[in-house]
Amino acid sequence: MLFMLLITTLLLYLAGILVWKRLSARTSHISITDASTARKILKSPSVYQRHPNNKWMVTKLGICNGFVIEDIDYQKRFTATVHSCLLRNNTKYKYLLKVVNDIITEEVVELEELILSRWIQKVTLYSFSKTFLNLNPSVKLLNELPTLINEIWLKQKTGGDTQTLSNDLFRLLENEIPSQVLNNNENDNWTKIQNVMVSVRKTTADKLNVKNFDNLFNNVLNIVIPGYESMWSLIFYTMLELLRRPALLEELRDGLLDDNNRLLRSIIQETLRLYPPSRSIHRTRATDNAQVVIDINKIHRNTVVWGIDSHLFNPNRFRKLTDSQSDAYLPFSITCPSRQSYTYRFSGAIISQIIDKYQLRISHGNLPPVDTPLNSNTRQSYGDIMVQFQKR
Ligand code: HEM
Repeated sequence: MLFMLLITTLLLYLAGILVWKRLSARTSHISITDASTARKILKSPSVYQRHPNNKWMVTKLGICNGFVIEDIDYQKRFTATVHSCLLRNNTKYKYLLKVVNDIITEEVVELEELILSRWIQKVTLYSFSKTFLNLNPSVKLLNELPTLINEIWLKQKTGGDTQTLSNDLFRLLENEIPSQVLNNNENDNWTKIQNVMVSVRKTTADKLNVKNFDNLFNNVLNIVIPGYESMWSLIFYTMLELLRRPALLEELRDGLLDDNNRLLRSIIQETLRLYPPSRSIHRTRATDNAQVVIDINKIHRNTVVWGIDSHLFNPNRFRKLTDSQSDAYLPFSITCPSRQSYTYRFSGAIISQIIDKYQLRISHGNLPPVDTPLNSNTRQSYGDIMVQFQKR
């Protein structure tokens, strides 16, 4: 009898340890700060899964793209399709320049003060919608969509209730982008992307446990979120760095006619190093549900790899990277279809058009001195910076 009691106690004790381990793994965060481990994790999508962390996007943003669905084959097809659309868009560079030019001329009243972050969000959203989706966004959409996405993202992070904001978002999209506008033959890219999403309709609707799957795959945010979100942040931080470095801005301006503008590319690369739009990449380890956080910010500022001045903005370092620096450069993770050229072409077009057309002056708000990195901890940073534009 005593023996049985001992065995039962021992078993209960062992079971307790197992449950505790499992629970602590669920809540523990494994932080990854070295590049080679990060790359190994990113190369193992079936073990280190992306979708559990992104699930909120299904209900709060109404999307069903490769970010949110646990299906590696689907993720690959989604990315490959976007990639093929981007290649085609690269050839339409002149059209992109014209579109950017239209919006930056239209949206600026000379010497009027503008909130820089909001203005860049509008310019980016307009240029992406027009050139990638062949969609002419309304003034209401341009004014309201960036703010709603921002607010939902922030509330979601702090665990707040986003339902009202999400309802506003869905209403805005429904009213401002009726599906017949998108589903016409002129929107090739959208049709291709939508076809991939529809192909997983049966399996996906079950996996996501949603009734409104048709609304999800009709939602342009499926491509606007990957395409616009990182892009506006990149353009914003590049402009902030240029605004506090007038000599660099002039040097860049002088070289704008150069078709193969090395300096522009290096400046964009350096912005992506110091202020990666995805500061950390989250994964859930399938074997034990542990949360794995790849700290891109830390990897990009590692002094052993980047030198003791790793916190300083120095585009020249991109003239020649060492092998370990190339390895430790992960602003796009390893799969983003825009990583080879589209990001540089698109953001480069916007940045060069702005500085070519205007002299800019900060009229409100402060930037730190150049030997201090900008603060990129929240998506609201420098939201108070106002700028006056003067035609050149
Ligand atoms: C500043 C520009 C950009 C940055 C920094 C960026 C960054 C990233 C990152 C970090 C990921 C991986 C996310 C993860 O694994 O959790 C990613 C994936 C992706 N990005 Fe980008 N991105 C940019 C622009 C774009 C653009 C313009 C597009 C499309 C128009 C795009 C489409 C995608 C797609 C489809 C994926 C999913 C790839 C996959 O399933 O593995 N990105 N991007």
